[in-house]
Amino acid sequence: MTALSVIKDENVVWHQHTVTKEIRSDLKKQKPAVLWFTGLSGAGKSTIAGALESKLAELGYHTYLLDGDNVRHGLCKDLGFSDHDRQENIRRIGELSKLMADAGLIVLSAFISPHRAERQMVRELLPEGEFLEVFVNTSLDECEKRDPKGLYKKARAGEIKHFTGIDSEYQQPLSPEIDLPAGTQSIEALVEQCLEELKVRSII
Ligand code: ADX
Repeated sequence: MTALSVIKDENVVWHQHTVTKEIRSDLKKQKPAVLWFTGLSGAGKSTIAGALESKLAELGYHTYLLDGDNVRHGLCKDLGFSDHDRQENIRRIGELSKLMADAGLIVLSAFISPHRAERQMVRELLPEGEFLEVFVNTSLDECEKRDPKGLYKKARAGEIKHFTGIDSEYQQPLSPEIDLPAGTQSIEALVEQCLEELKVRSII
């Protein structure tokens, strides 16, 4: 931390506004939550999160889907794929997800987020029970077979460096709230599994 940021921190205080998280979520008649989809590139994170968001919207819930490829076009377009940049990427998305939950939304965040420490950091930003880790559990073999963007081929050819699963580590969740067998089941079945888990936890 620089001297300047220390001085700034001391002079910045949290302002509690009148309209609270509770008021915002009551107006939406829902409990806010962050569903954090993690898994390899090509595992199906965005596809499953998108299908689940459609279902939730049909059911009348207020949602927002944050997706790695999209966020890297704007908020995080200055970041690459070194461990340091991925950490900053997840820190920003974690804070953004927290703000959106504070707005009363059900947030679906789909990022490789390869490191346990960063996912834990986001979990700790939120109240107990509000962060659900969703492991999109598709094997590297299957992701590489799918290779929807041709990126595994490029990574194997050495044209992309630090590619997750090839020359950059992916740390599987140890006890995710939801473990999706995404390599072997239909999107519909996986969405159904998520909905069931949300019901069990009284989020919907
Ligand atoms: S994360 O590791 O920081 O969480 P994020 O989910 O934002 O990654 O972005 C992943 C997407 O960026 C992938 O789906 C892929 O399309 C693209 N990408 C480009 N280069 C890489 C790389 N070196 N490793 C992983 N994904 C990459």
